[in-house]
Amino acid sequence: MSKIKIGVYPGSFDPVTLGHLDIIRRASKLVDRLVVAVAAHSGKKPLFSVDERIELLQKALKNKNTNINNNCEIIVEGFDNLLVDFVKEHKSFIVIRGVRQYSDFEYEAQMAALNAQMADFDIETIFLASNAKYQSIASRFIKQVTQLGGDVSSFVTPNVKKALEAKYK
Ligand code: PNS
Repeated sequence: MSKIKIGVYPGSFDPVTLGHLDIIRRASKLVDRLVVAVAAHSGKKPLFSVDERIELLQKALKNKNTNINNNCEIIVEGFDNLLVDFVKEHKSFIVIRGVRQYSDFEYEAQMAALNAQMADFDIETIFLASNAKYQSIASRFIKQVTQLGGDVSSFVTPNVKKALEAKYK
């Protein structure tokens, strides 16, 4: 029997961007099952509730242009515990994170080391370098651009744009 590779891609996804979707697409080539884990606790005050973020992700993933590997099962779930516990609950040891710039890496490396230590080094974080096309995209900028009346159609899917505009109406 072949071993099922399960990966967890955690984040705030407040809201999901085309950058996140690109990481999901690429991760779907690496694992058989990918759990996209929407964090209740990320140290940030979110604009969207966990349920709203899950719904936005699920709808965005249905977009025809996502090009996700059909052989990978994608699951979207919220979590409110420690990431390392959530990863274990899903019988996984692989965390996937996207890294845009070098400045992201400091925070990411620290988080990966902390998680590894908390999980007795039985967890691996795999970093995927963001595609150049998506390097400038960050959920916090997208929220600000929408709030100030800018157009975010090149950074998010139509359902996310609509949800953002509704929040700031
Ligand atoms: O998209 P983000 O905000 O950079 O994601 C950060 C996230 C959600 C991966 C991180 O805050 C997290 O893992 N939160 C869950 C709680 C936890 O395990 N904290 C300890 C590690 S920082």
